[in-house]
Amino acid sequence: MKNTNLFRRKTVDQILAEVKLQEDHASGELVRNLTLRDLVSMGIAAIIGAGIFSTIGNASAAGGPAVSLLFIFTAIACVFSAMCYAQFASTIPISGSAYTYAYASFGELVAWIIGWDLLMEYAIGNIAVAISWSDYFTGLLVGMGLDVPLYLTMDFLSASRGHDVVTELLNQGKPLSEASALQVAGYEAWNTAPSIGGLKLVADLPALLITFFVTVLVYIGIKESKTTGNILVLIKLVVVLLVIAVGSFYIQPSNWSPFAPNGISGVLKGVSAVFFSYIGFDAISTTAEECKNPQRDLPKAMLYTLLICTVLYVLITLVLTGMVNYTELAVGDPLAFVFDRVNLNFMAGIISVSAIVALTSVLLVFQLGQPRIWMSMSRDGLLPKAFSKIHPRFNTPSFSTVVTGLVVAIPALFMNLTEVTDLTSIGTLFAFVLVCGGVLLLDKTEKVPGRFKVPYINGKYIVPALLMGITLYIFLNNREMITHFFTINQVEGNFWDVLEHKILAILFIVVSIWISWLTFSKNLSLIPVLGLLTNLYLMTELGITNWSRFLAWLLLGLVIYFSYSYRNSKLGKLQHRTNR
Ligand code: ALA
Repeated sequence: MKNTNLFRRKTVDQILAEVKLQEDHASGELVRNLTLRDLVSMGIAAIIGAGIFSTIGNASAAGGPAVSLLFIFTAIACVFSAMCYAQFASTIPISGSAYTYAYASFGELVAWIIGWDLLMEYAIGNIAVAISWSDYFTGLLVGMGLDVPLYLTMDFLSASRGHDVVTELLNQGKPLSEASALQVAGYEAWNTAPSIGGLKLVADLPALLITFFVTVLVYIGIKESKTTGNILVLIKLVVVLLVIAVGSFYIQPSNWSPFAPNGISGVLKGVSAVFFSYIGFDAISTTAEECKNPQRDLPKAMLYTLLICTVLYVLITLVLTGMVNYTELAVGDPLAFVFDRVNLNFMAGIISVSAIVALTSVLLVFQLGQPRIWMSMSRDGLLPKAFSKIHPRFNTPSFSTVVTGLVVAIPALFMNLTEVTDLTSIGTLFAFVLVCGGVLLLDKTEKVPGRFKVPYINGKYIVPALLMGITLYIFLNNREMITHFFTINQVEGNFWDVLEHKILAILFIVVSIWISWLTFSKNLSLIPVLGLLTNLYLMTELGITNWSRFLAWLLLGLVIYFSYSYRNSKLGKLQHRTNR
Protein backbone atom coordinates (compact mmCIF):
# COMPACT_ATOMS: atom_id res chain seq x y z
CA MET A 1 0.00 0.00 0.00
CA LYS A 2 1.39 3.43 -0.89
CA ASN A 3 2.11 6.15 1.66
CA THR A 4 -0.10 8.48 -0.33
CA ASN A 5 -3.09 6.37 0.52
CA LEU A 6 -5.54 8.50 2.48
CA PHE A 7 -7.41 5.42 3.53
CA ARG A 8 -4.45 3.65 5.05
CA ARG A 9 -5.94 1.48 7.72
CA LYS A 10 -4.64 0.02 10.95
CA THR A 11 -5.51 -3.55 11.73
CA VAL A 12 -7.04 -4.27 15.11
CA ASP A 13 -3.97 -6.35 16.05
CA GLN A 14 -1.74 -3.45 15.14
CA ILE A 15 -3.71 -1.07 17.35
CA LEU A 16 -3.65 -3.43 20.32
CA ALA A 17 0.08 -4.12 19.93
CA GLU A 18 0.90 -0.39 19.77
CA VAL A 19 -0.93 0.35 22.98
CA LYS A 20 0.82 -2.53 24.72
CA LEU A 21 4.17 -1.15 23.57
CA GLN A 22 3.26 2.34 24.75
CA GLU A 23 2.20 1.00 28.14
CA ASP A 24 5.51 -0.84 28.50
CA HIS A 25 7.61 2.23 27.70
CA ALA A 26 5.61 5.11 29.05
CA SER A 27 6.85 7.05 32.07
CA GLY A 28 3.36 7.03 33.43
CA GLU A 29 0.38 4.97 32.41
CA LEU A 30 -3.37 5.00 32.81
CA VAL A 31 -4.63 3.01 35.78
CA ARG A 32 -7.34 0.36 35.46
CA ASN A 33 -9.75 1.44 38.14
CA LEU A 34 -13.25 1.41 36.68
CA THR A 35 -15.81 -1.33 37.30
CA LEU A 36 -19.18 -1.94 35.61
CA ARG A 37 -20.93 0.07 38.31
CA ASP A 38 -18.54 2.98 37.81
CA LEU A 39 -19.12 2.89 34.07
CA VAL A 40 -22.92 2.89 34.39
CA SER A 41 -22.59 5.71 36.87
CA MET A 42 -20.35 7.58 34.47
CA GLY A 43 -22.83 7.05 31.65
CA ILE A 44 -25.67 8.44 33.75
CA ALA A 45 -23.41 11.28 34.82
CA ALA A 46 -22.84 12.19 31.18
CA ILE A 47 -26.38 11.70 29.95
CA ILE A 48 -28.71 13.30 32.49
CA GLY A 49 -27.95 16.99 32.29
CA ALA A 50 -28.88 20.15 30.42
CA GLY A 51 -31.15 18.17 28.10
CA ILE A 52 -33.61 17.03 30.74
CA PHE A 53 -33.16 20.00 33.04
CA SER A 54 -33.59 22.71 30.38
CA THR A 55 -34.10 21.97 26.71
CA ILE A 56 -36.94 19.51 27.31
CA GLY A 57 -39.05 22.57 28.18
CA ASN A 58 -39.14 23.97 24.66
CA ALA A 59 -39.42 20.50 23.13
CA SER A 60 -42.53 19.76 25.23
CA ALA A 61 -44.04 23.16 24.50
CA ALA A 62 -43.77 22.42 20.78
CA GLY A 63 -44.76 18.77 20.76
CA GLY A 64 -46.92 18.27 23.85
CA PRO A 65 -47.04 14.98 25.80
CA ALA A 66 -46.17 13.03 22.62
CA VAL A 67 -42.56 14.15 23.06
CA SER A 68 -42.35 11.13 25.38
CA LEU A 69 -42.66 8.99 22.23
CA LEU A 70 -39.83 10.94 20.63
CA PHE A 71 -37.72 9.97 23.63
CA ILE A 72 -38.50 6.33 22.92
CA PHE A 73 -37.77 6.63 19.19
CA THR A 74 -34.49 8.41 19.86
CA ALA A 75 -33.55 5.82 22.47
CA ILE A 76 -34.06 3.06 19.90
CA ALA A 77 -31.74 4.88 17.48
CA CYS A 78 -29.23 5.21 20.31
CA VAL A 79 -29.49 1.51 21.20
CA PHE A 80 -28.56 0.53 17.63
CA SER A 81 -25.56 2.84 17.84
CA ALA A 82 -24.71 1.71 21.37
CA MET A 83 -24.56 -1.91 20.21
CA CYS A 84 -22.14 -0.92 17.45
CA TYR A 85 -20.08 1.12 19.90
CA ALA A 86 -20.12 -1.88 22.21
CA GLN A 87 -18.79 -4.22 19.52
CA PHE A 88 -15.94 -1.84 18.79
CA ALA A 89 -15.24 -1.17 22.45
CA SER A 90 -15.00 -4.87 23.18
CA THR A 91 -12.83 -5.55 20.12
CA ILE A 92 -10.56 -2.51 20.44
CA PRO A 93 -10.61 -1.47 24.11
CA ILE A 94 -8.60 1.71 23.50
CA SER A 95 -9.32 5.26 24.72
CA GLY A 96 -9.93 6.83 21.32
CA SER A 97 -13.57 5.69 21.06
CA ALA A 98 -15.11 6.20 17.61
CA TYR A 99 -11.86 7.72 16.37
CA THR A 100 -9.91 4.50 16.95
CA TYR A 101 -12.79 2.42 15.61
CA ALA A 102 -12.80 4.43 12.39
CA TYR A 103 -9.03 3.97 12.03
CA ALA A 104 -9.56 0.22 12.01
CA SER A 105 -12.54 0.22 9.69
CA PHE A 106 -12.49 3.20 7.32
CA GLY A 107 -8.84 4.22 7.46
CA GLU A 108 -6.93 7.31 8.48
CA LEU A 109 -8.75 10.14 6.74
CA VAL A 110 -12.16 9.15 8.08
CA ALA A 111 -10.58 8.50 11.49
CA TRP A 112 -9.23 12.04 11.49
CA ILE A 113 -12.61 13.43 10.46
CA ILE A 114 -14.36 11.58 13.24
CA GLY A 115 -11.73 12.51 15.84
CA TRP A 116 -12.11 16.14 14.82
CA ASP A 117 -15.87 15.77 14.95
CA LEU A 118 -15.73 14.26 18.45
CA LEU A 119 -13.61 17.14 19.67
CA MET A 120 -16.36 19.47 18.50
CA GLU A 121 -19.07 17.35 20.10
CA TYR A 122 -17.35 17.29 23.47
CA ALA A 123 -16.02 20.84 23.49
CA ILE A 124 -19.11 22.63 22.21
CA GLY A 125 -21.39 20.39 24.22
CA ASN A 126 -19.46 21.29 27.34
CA ILE A 127 -19.38 25.00 26.53
CA ALA A 128 -23.18 24.88 26.39
CA VAL A 129 -23.34 22.89 29.63
CA ALA A 130 -20.97 25.32 31.38
CA ILE A 131 -23.10 28.26 30.31
CA SER A 132 -26.26 26.47 31.45
CA TRP A 133 -24.56 25.61 34.77
CA SER A 134 -23.80 29.27 35.24
CA ASP A 135 -27.46 30.20 34.63
CA TYR A 136 -28.70 27.80 37.31
CA PHE A 137 -25.94 28.79 39.72
CA THR A 138 -26.62 32.48 39.31
CA GLY A 139 -30.35 31.85 39.70
CA LEU A 140 -29.67 30.05 42.95
CA LEU A 141 -27.47 32.85 44.31
CA VAL A 142 -30.11 35.42 43.41
CA GLY A 143 -32.76 33.20 45.03
CA MET A 144 -30.69 33.24 48.20
CA GLY A 145 -30.83 37.03 48.18
CA LEU A 146 -27.27 37.65 46.95
CA ASP A 147 -26.70 40.57 44.63
CA VAL A 148 -24.71 39.24 41.69
CA PRO A 149 -23.72 41.78 39.00
CA LEU A 150 -25.33 40.75 35.72
CA TYR A 151 -22.25 41.64 33.69
CA LEU A 152 -20.27 38.95 35.50
CA THR A 153 -22.77 36.19 34.77
CA MET A 154 -23.67 36.83 31.18
CA ASP A 155 -21.83 36.30 27.94
CA PHE A 156 -20.63 39.25 25.90
CA LEU A 157 -22.71 38.54 22.80
CA SER A 158 -26.04 38.18 24.61
CA ALA A 159 -25.41 41.41 26.45
CA SER A 160 -24.40 43.29 23.33
CA ARG A 161 -27.36 41.96 21.32
CA GLY A 162 -29.79 42.61 24.19
CA HIS A 163 -28.48 46.15 24.47
CA ASP A 164 -29.00 46.80 20.75
CA VAL A 165 -32.52 45.38 20.68
CA VAL A 166 -33.74 47.17 23.80
CA THR A 167 -32.14 50.49 22.80
CA GLU A 168 -33.90 50.27 19.45
CA LEU A 169 -37.24 49.52 21.16
CA LEU A 170 -36.83 52.43 23.56
CA ASN A 171 -35.88 54.77 20.71
CA GLN A 172 -39.10 53.82 18.97
CA GLY A 173 -41.03 54.53 22.18
CA LYS A 174 -42.11 50.90 22.54
CA PRO A 175 -42.54 49.18 25.94
CA LEU A 176 -39.83 46.93 27.40
CA SER A 177 -42.31 44.08 27.49
CA GLU A 178 -41.76 43.64 23.77
CA ALA A 179 -38.24 42.40 24.46
CA SER A 180 -37.48 38.97 25.91
CA ALA A 181 -36.27 38.57 29.50
CA LEU A 182 -32.83 37.66 28.18
CA GLN A 183 -32.65 40.80 26.05
CA VAL A 184 -33.64 43.00 28.98
CA ALA A 185 -31.02 41.30 31.16
CA GLY A 186 -28.46 41.85 28.39
CA TYR A 187 -29.36 45.52 28.22
CA GLU A 188 -28.90 45.89 31.98
CA ALA A 189 -25.64 43.95 31.97
CA TRP A 190 -24.27 46.13 29.17
CA ASN A 191 -25.26 49.38 30.85
CA THR A 192 -23.86 48.47 34.25
CA ALA A 193 -20.61 46.85 33.06
CA PRO A 194 -17.32 48.72 33.58
CA SER A 195 -15.30 49.33 30.43
CA ILE A 196 -11.63 49.52 29.59
CA GLY A 197 -10.74 51.60 26.58
CA GLY A 198 -14.30 51.44 25.28
CA LEU A 199 -14.47 47.64 25.66
CA LYS A 200 -17.28 46.50 27.91
CA LEU A 201 -16.23 43.94 30.52
CA VAL A 202 -19.06 41.46 30.25
CA ALA A 203 -18.17 37.82 30.86
CA ASP A 204 -19.74 34.64 32.18
CA LEU A 205 -17.46 34.16 35.18
CA PRO A 206 -19.22 31.19 36.82
CA ALA A 207 -18.95 29.25 33.54
CA LEU A 208 -15.19 29.84 33.61
CA LEU A 209 -14.87 28.89 37.25
CA ILE A 210 -16.78 25.62 37.02
CA THR A 211 -14.78 24.57 33.95
CA PHE A 212 -11.58 25.40 35.82
CA PHE A 213 -12.67 23.42 38.88
CA VAL A 214 -13.71 20.36 36.85
CA THR A 215 -10.52 20.48 34.78
CA VAL A 216 -8.38 20.46 37.93
CA LEU A 217 -10.30 17.45 39.18
CA VAL A 218 -9.82 15.57 35.93
CA TYR A 219 -6.13 16.56 35.89
CA ILE A 220 -5.33 15.16 39.30
CA GLY A 221 -6.73 11.74 38.66
CA ILE A 222 -9.30 9.35 37.35
CA LYS A 223 -9.85 7.91 40.81
CA GLU A 224 -10.80 11.23 42.33
CA SER A 225 -12.98 12.00 39.28
CA LYS A 226 -14.67 8.63 39.61
CA THR A 227 -15.52 9.06 43.29
CA THR A 228 -16.81 12.59 42.78
CA GLY A 229 -18.77 11.45 39.73
CA ASN A 230 -20.38 8.59 41.66
CA ILE A 231 -21.54 10.93 44.41
CA LEU A 232 -22.93 13.47 41.93
CA VAL A 233 -24.83 10.75 40.09
CA LEU A 234 -26.39 9.43 43.26
CA ILE A 235 -27.70 12.88 44.19
CA LYS A 236 -28.96 13.42 40.65
CA LEU A 237 -30.83 10.12 40.53
CA VAL A 238 -32.48 10.67 43.91
CA VAL A 239 -33.76 14.07 42.77
CA VAL A 240 -34.99 12.80 39.40
CA LEU A 241 -36.88 10.00 41.16
CA LEU A 242 -38.27 12.50 43.63
CA VAL A 243 -39.56 14.68 40.78
CA ILE A 244 -41.29 11.68 39.23
CA ALA A 245 -42.72 10.40 42.52
CA VAL A 246 -43.96 13.74 43.92
CA GLY A 247 -44.99 15.08 40.51
CA SER A 248 -47.14 12.06 39.76
CA PHE A 249 -49.53 13.15 42.55
CA TYR A 250 -50.16 16.42 40.69
CA ILE A 251 -50.87 15.00 37.26
CA GLN A 252 -54.15 16.00 35.70
CA PRO A 253 -54.85 13.46 32.96
CA SER A 254 -56.78 16.10 31.00
CA ASN A 255 -53.41 17.74 30.25
CA TRP A 256 -52.49 14.66 28.21
CA SER A 257 -55.31 15.23 25.81
CA PRO A 258 -54.69 15.90 22.99
CA PHE A 259 -51.53 13.84 23.19
CA ALA A 260 -49.88 15.36 20.10
CA PRO A 261 -51.54 18.78 19.82
CA ASN A 262 -49.21 20.01 17.06
CA GLY A 263 -48.96 16.74 15.21
CA ILE A 264 -45.78 15.08 14.06
CA SER A 265 -44.17 18.35 13.02
CA GLY A 266 -44.55 19.68 16.55
CA VAL A 267 -43.04 16.56 18.07
CA LEU A 268 -40.13 16.54 15.64
CA LYS A 269 -39.18 20.10 16.54
CA GLY A 270 -37.75 18.51 19.68
CA VAL A 271 -35.32 16.19 17.86
CA SER A 272 -32.21 18.16 18.68
CA ALA A 273 -33.12 18.73 22.34
CA VAL A 274 -34.18 15.12 22.87
CA PHE A 275 -31.11 13.74 21.14
CA PHE A 276 -28.89 16.13 23.10
CA SER A 277 -30.29 14.68 26.29
CA TYR A 278 -29.05 11.19 25.31
CA ILE A 279 -25.54 12.25 24.34
CA GLY A 280 -23.03 10.79 26.71
CA PHE A 281 -23.30 7.01 26.66
CA ASP A 282 -20.69 7.05 23.89
CA ALA A 283 -18.30 9.01 26.12
CA ILE A 284 -17.74 6.08 28.46
CA SER A 285 -15.95 4.20 25.71
CA THR A 286 -13.12 6.75 25.98
CA THR A 287 -12.19 5.27 29.36
CA ALA A 288 -11.50 1.81 27.88
CA GLU A 289 -7.89 1.83 29.06
CA GLU A 290 -8.93 2.65 32.60
CA CYS A 291 -11.56 -0.13 32.94
CA LYS A 292 -10.82 -3.26 34.90
CA ASN A 293 -12.49 -5.41 32.26
CA PRO A 294 -13.40 -3.22 29.27
CA GLN A 295 -14.40 -6.04 26.96
CA ARG A 296 -17.00 -7.39 29.34
CA ASP A 297 -18.11 -4.19 31.03
CA LEU A 298 -18.25 -1.49 28.34
CA PRO A 299 -21.00 -3.09 26.22
CA LYS A 300 -23.11 -3.83 29.29
CA ALA A 301 -22.57 -0.37 30.72
CA MET A 302 -23.75 1.41 27.56
CA LEU A 303 -26.92 -0.61 27.27
CA TYR A 304 -27.82 -0.42 30.98
CA THR A 305 -27.23 3.32 30.96
CA LEU A 306 -29.49 3.88 27.98
CA LEU A 307 -32.22 1.74 29.46
CA ILE A 308 -32.20 3.55 32.80
CA CYS A 309 -32.16 7.00 31.19
CA THR A 310 -34.94 6.20 28.71
CA VAL A 311 -37.27 5.06 31.48
CA LEU A 312 -36.50 8.17 33.52
CA TYR A 313 -36.90 10.54 30.54
CA VAL A 314 -40.22 9.13 29.44
CA LEU A 315 -41.58 9.29 32.99
CA ILE A 316 -40.32 12.86 33.48
CA THR A 317 -41.89 14.00 30.22
CA LEU A 318 -45.20 12.45 31.17
CA VAL A 319 -45.06 14.03 34.62
CA LEU A 320 -44.17 17.48 33.25
CA THR A 321 -46.84 17.50 30.56
CA GLY A 322 -49.33 16.01 33.00
CA MET A 323 -48.77 18.62 35.69
CA VAL A 324 -49.31 21.72 33.52
CA ASN A 325 -50.59 22.45 30.07
CA TYR A 326 -47.82 21.83 27.54
CA THR A 327 -48.06 25.41 26.26
CA GLU A 328 -46.65 26.71 29.54
CA LEU A 329 -43.46 24.70 29.33
CA ALA A 330 -41.38 27.02 27.12
CA VAL A 331 -39.05 27.90 29.98
CA GLY A 332 -35.37 27.26 30.67
CA ASP A 333 -35.97 25.46 33.96
CA PRO A 334 -39.10 23.37 33.30
CA LEU A 335 -38.63 20.94 36.20
CA ALA A 336 -38.42 23.69 38.80
CA PHE A 337 -41.14 25.65 37.01
CA VAL A 338 -43.85 22.99 37.23
CA PHE A 339 -43.38 22.64 40.98
CA ASP A 340 -43.53 26.39 41.37
CA ARG A 341 -46.80 26.31 39.48
CA VAL A 342 -48.34 23.86 41.95
CA ASN A 343 -46.95 25.91 44.86
CA LEU A 344 -44.37 23.35 45.95
CA ASN A 345 -41.60 25.93 46.26
CA PHE A 346 -39.31 23.74 48.34
CA MET A 347 -39.27 21.18 45.51
CA ALA A 348 -38.40 23.92 43.02
CA GLY A 349 -35.44 24.82 45.26
CA ILE A 350 -34.26 21.22 45.50
CA ILE A 351 -34.47 20.89 41.73
CA SER A 352 -32.40 24.01 41.13
CA VAL A 353 -29.64 22.68 43.37
CA SER A 354 -29.78 19.29 41.72
CA ALA A 355 -29.57 20.86 38.26
CA ILE A 356 -26.27 22.34 39.32
CA VAL A 357 -25.12 18.92 40.49
CA ALA A 358 -26.36 17.24 37.31
CA LEU A 359 -24.63 19.69 35.05
CA THR A 360 -21.38 19.40 37.00
CA SER A 361 -21.33 15.67 36.43
CA VAL A 362 -21.94 16.09 32.69
CA LEU A 363 -19.03 18.52 32.54
CA LEU A 364 -16.89 16.06 34.46
CA VAL A 365 -17.44 13.16 32.07
CA PHE A 366 -16.90 15.19 28.91
CA GLN A 367 -13.82 16.89 30.31
CA LEU A 368 -12.59 13.41 31.08
CA GLY A 369 -13.37 12.03 27.62
CA GLN A 370 -12.05 14.83 25.45
CA PRO A 371 -8.35 14.70 26.43
CA ARG A 372 -8.35 10.96 25.83
CA ILE A 373 -9.35 11.53 22.23
CA TRP A 374 -6.63 14.19 21.77
CA MET A 375 -4.29 11.63 23.34
CA SER A 376 -5.21 8.84 20.92
CA MET A 377 -4.85 11.13 17.91
CA SER A 378 -1.45 12.26 19.15
CA ARG A 379 -0.26 8.68 19.69
CA ASP A 380 -0.92 8.13 16.01
CA GLY A 381 1.12 11.18 15.08
CA LEU A 382 -1.91 13.12 13.85
CA LEU A 383 -1.43 15.69 16.62
CA PRO A 384 1.83 16.83 18.28
CA LYS A 385 3.43 14.50 20.84
CA ALA A 386 2.62 16.65 23.86
CA PHE A 387 -1.05 15.66 23.60
CA SER A 388 -0.27 12.07 24.55
CA LYS A 389 1.96 12.88 27.51
CA ILE A 390 0.84 11.09 30.67
CA HIS A 391 1.50 12.85 33.95
CA PRO A 392 4.04 10.76 35.92
CA ARG A 393 2.35 11.36 39.25
CA PHE A 394 -1.34 11.73 38.44
CA ASN A 395 -1.37 9.20 35.60
CA THR A 396 -3.64 11.34 33.45
CA PRO A 397 -3.10 12.87 29.99
CA SER A 398 -2.00 16.15 31.53
CA PHE A 399 -1.29 18.42 28.56
CA SER A 400 -4.46 17.38 26.73
CA THR A 401 -6.47 17.95 29.89
CA VAL A 402 -5.18 21.51 30.22
CA VAL A 403 -5.85 22.22 26.52
CA THR A 404 -9.37 20.85 26.93
CA GLY A 405 -9.94 23.12 29.90
CA LEU A 406 -8.86 26.17 27.90
CA VAL A 407 -10.84 25.20 24.81
CA VAL A 408 -14.02 25.02 26.88
CA ALA A 409 -13.44 27.71 29.49
CA ILE A 410 -12.46 30.61 27.26
CA PRO A 411 -15.34 30.46 24.77
CA ALA A 412 -17.76 29.77 27.66
CA LEU A 413 -16.66 33.06 29.16
CA PHE A 414 -17.59 35.18 26.15
CA MET A 415 -19.80 33.33 23.73
CA ASN A 416 -23.48 32.85 23.26
CA LEU A 417 -23.79 29.22 22.41
CA THR A 418 -27.48 28.45 22.62
CA GLU A 419 -27.49 27.68 18.92
CA VAL A 420 -24.58 25.28 19.08
CA THR A 421 -26.49 22.76 21.17
CA ASP A 422 -27.73 21.75 17.74
CA LEU A 423 -24.17 21.58 16.51
CA THR A 424 -23.33 19.16 19.30
CA SER A 425 -26.24 16.95 18.28
CA ILE A 426 -25.35 16.93 14.60
CA GLY A 427 -21.70 16.15 15.39
CA THR A 428 -22.66 13.26 17.63
CA LEU A 429 -25.14 11.83 15.15
CA PHE A 430 -22.43 11.93 12.51
CA ALA A 431 -20.12 9.94 14.81
CA PHE A 432 -22.91 7.41 15.37
CA VAL A 433 -23.45 7.04 11.63
CA LEU A 434 -19.76 6.30 11.11
CA VAL A 435 -19.62 3.84 13.99
CA CYS A 436 -22.61 1.90 12.62
CA GLY A 437 -21.04 1.96 9.14
CA GLY A 438 -17.72 0.95 10.69
CA VAL A 439 -19.20 -2.21 12.18
CA LEU A 440 -20.46 -3.23 8.76
CA LEU A 441 -16.99 -2.72 7.31
CA LEU A 442 -15.06 -4.25 10.20
CA ASP A 443 -17.19 -7.38 10.02
CA LYS A 444 -16.06 -7.80 6.44
CA THR A 445 -12.39 -6.99 6.87
CA GLU A 446 -11.46 -8.32 10.31
CA LYS A 447 -12.21 -11.53 12.06
CA VAL A 448 -10.99 -10.44 15.47
CA PRO A 449 -12.85 -12.04 18.34
CA GLY A 450 -14.38 -9.43 20.63
CA ARG A 451 -16.32 -10.35 23.73
CA PHE A 452 -19.40 -8.65 22.32
CA LYS A 453 -20.64 -8.75 18.78
CA VAL A 454 -23.77 -7.11 17.36
CA PRO A 455 -26.06 -10.12 16.77
CA TYR A 456 -26.21 -10.82 13.05
CA ILE A 457 -29.67 -10.76 11.58
CA ASN A 458 -29.69 -10.71 7.82
CA GLY A 459 -31.24 -7.41 6.73
CA LYS A 460 -31.66 -8.57 3.11
CA TYR A 461 -35.45 -8.61 3.10
CA ILE A 462 -36.24 -6.87 6.38
CA VAL A 463 -34.68 -3.46 5.55
CA PRO A 464 -36.29 -2.98 2.11
CA ALA A 465 -39.60 -4.34 3.45
CA LEU A 466 -39.43 -2.01 6.44
CA LEU A 467 -38.76 1.04 4.27
CA MET A 468 -41.50 0.14 1.84
CA GLY A 469 -43.89 -0.54 4.73
CA ILE A 470 -43.16 2.81 6.37
CA THR A 471 -43.52 4.67 3.06
CA LEU A 472 -46.81 2.93 2.34
CA TYR A 473 -48.10 3.61 5.84
CA ILE A 474 -47.23 7.30 5.55
CA PHE A 475 -48.94 7.60 2.17
CA LEU A 476 -52.08 5.85 3.33
CA ASN A 477 -52.44 7.15 6.87
CA ASN A 478 -50.22 10.08 7.57
CA ARG A 479 -50.14 12.71 4.89
CA GLU A 480 -49.05 15.19 7.53
CA MET A 481 -45.69 13.45 7.75
CA ILE A 482 -45.13 14.06 4.05
CA THR A 483 -45.96 17.72 4.45
CA HIS A 484 -43.60 17.91 7.41
CA PHE A 485 -40.79 16.18 5.64
CA PHE A 486 -40.94 18.45 2.65
CA THR A 487 -41.57 21.72 4.41
CA ILE A 488 -38.66 21.84 6.83
CA ASN A 489 -38.61 25.43 8.15
CA GLN A 490 -41.83 26.10 6.23
CA VAL A 491 -39.88 27.66 3.40
CA GLU A 492 -41.46 29.72 0.75
CA GLY A 493 -39.56 31.33 -2.06
CA ASN A 494 -38.04 30.62 -5.44
CA PHE A 495 -37.01 27.21 -6.64
CA TRP A 496 -33.48 27.44 -5.21
CA ASP A 497 -34.67 28.57 -1.75
CA VAL A 498 -37.05 25.67 -1.59
CA LEU A 499 -34.46 23.22 -2.92
CA GLU A 500 -31.95 24.39 -0.33
CA HIS A 501 -34.33 23.47 2.46
CA LYS A 502 -35.62 20.28 0.93
CA ILE A 503 -32.26 19.00 -0.09
CA LEU A 504 -31.79 17.13 3.18
CA ALA A 505 -35.09 15.31 2.78
CA ILE A 506 -34.27 14.42 -0.80
CA LEU A 507 -30.78 13.25 0.12
CA PHE A 508 -32.17 11.12 2.93
CA ILE A 509 -34.55 9.37 0.56
CA VAL A 510 -31.80 8.74 -1.99
CA VAL A 511 -29.36 7.47 0.65
CA SER A 512 -31.99 5.19 2.24
CA ILE A 513 -32.77 3.60 -1.11
CA TRP A 514 -29.06 3.10 -1.71
CA ILE A 515 -28.52 1.56 1.73
CA SER A 516 -31.52 -0.73 1.23
CA TRP A 517 -30.07 -1.87 -2.05
CA LEU A 518 -26.69 -2.56 -0.45
CA THR A 519 -28.36 -4.45 2.38
CA PHE A 520 -30.32 -6.52 -0.11
CA SER A 521 -27.41 -7.30 -2.39
CA LYS A 522 -24.75 -7.82 0.28
CA ASN A 523 -26.81 -9.40 3.08
CA LEU A 524 -25.81 -6.66 5.51
CA SER A 525 -26.40 -6.97 9.22
CA LEU A 526 -29.76 -5.53 10.28
CA ILE A 527 -28.86 -3.66 13.49
CA PRO A 528 -26.01 -1.48 12.14
CA VAL A 529 -28.09 -0.70 9.06
CA LEU A 530 -31.04 0.40 11.20
CA GLY A 531 -28.58 2.47 13.26
CA LEU A 532 -27.34 4.15 10.08
CA LEU A 533 -30.84 4.92 8.85
CA THR A 534 -32.28 6.20 12.13
CA ASN A 535 -29.28 8.43 12.86
CA LEU A 536 -29.28 9.80 9.32
CA TYR A 537 -32.96 10.54 9.66
CA LEU A 538 -32.39 12.44 12.92
CA MET A 539 -29.61 14.41 11.21
CA THR A 540 -32.03 15.33 8.44
CA GLU A 541 -34.27 16.93 11.04
CA LEU A 542 -31.56 19.36 12.19
CA GLY A 543 -31.86 21.73 9.23
CA ILE A 544 -29.58 23.22 6.64
CA THR A 545 -28.01 25.91 8.86
CA ASN A 546 -26.59 23.34 11.25
CA TRP A 547 -25.38 21.25 8.37
CA SER A 548 -23.52 24.23 6.91
CA ARG A 549 -21.82 25.03 10.22
CA PHE A 550 -20.95 21.42 10.74
CA LEU A 551 -19.43 21.14 7.26
CA ALA A 552 -17.42 24.32 7.89
CA TRP A 553 -15.95 22.73 11.03
CA LEU A 554 -15.05 19.57 9.11
CA LEU A 555 -13.40 21.68 6.41
CA LEU A 556 -11.20 23.35 9.01
CA GLY A 557 -10.26 19.88 10.25
CA LEU A 558 -9.27 18.83 6.75
CA VAL A 559 -7.00 21.85 6.41
CA ILE A 560 -5.18 20.80 9.61
CA TYR A 561 -5.03 17.19 8.46
CA PHE A 562 -3.42 18.01 5.15
CA SER A 563 -1.07 20.63 6.55
CA TYR A 564 0.16 18.65 9.59
CA SER A 565 -1.34 15.27 10.37
CA TYR A 566 -1.00 13.61 6.98
CA ARG A 567 2.76 14.16 6.95
CA ASN A 568 3.30 13.22 10.59
CA SER A 569 1.12 10.14 10.71
CA LYS A 570 3.00 7.24 12.30
CA LEU A 571 1.16 4.77 10.11
CA GLY A 572 2.09 6.81 7.05
CA LYS A 573 5.77 6.88 8.05
CA LEU A 574 5.72 3.14 8.73
CA GLN A 575 4.20 2.35 5.37
CA HIS A 576 6.68 4.70 3.71
CA ARG A 577 9.61 2.81 5.27
CA THR A 578 8.12 -0.56 4.36
CA ASN A 579 7.58 0.50 0.77
CA ARG A 580 11.13 1.78 0.25
N1 ALA B 1 -26.81 14.53 27.64
C1 ALA B 1 -26.11 15.64 28.14
C2 ALA B 1 -27.02 16.69 28.65
O1 ALA B 1 -28.20 16.57 28.49
C3 ALA B 1 -25.16 16.20 27.14
O2 ALA B 1 -26.56 17.65 29.22
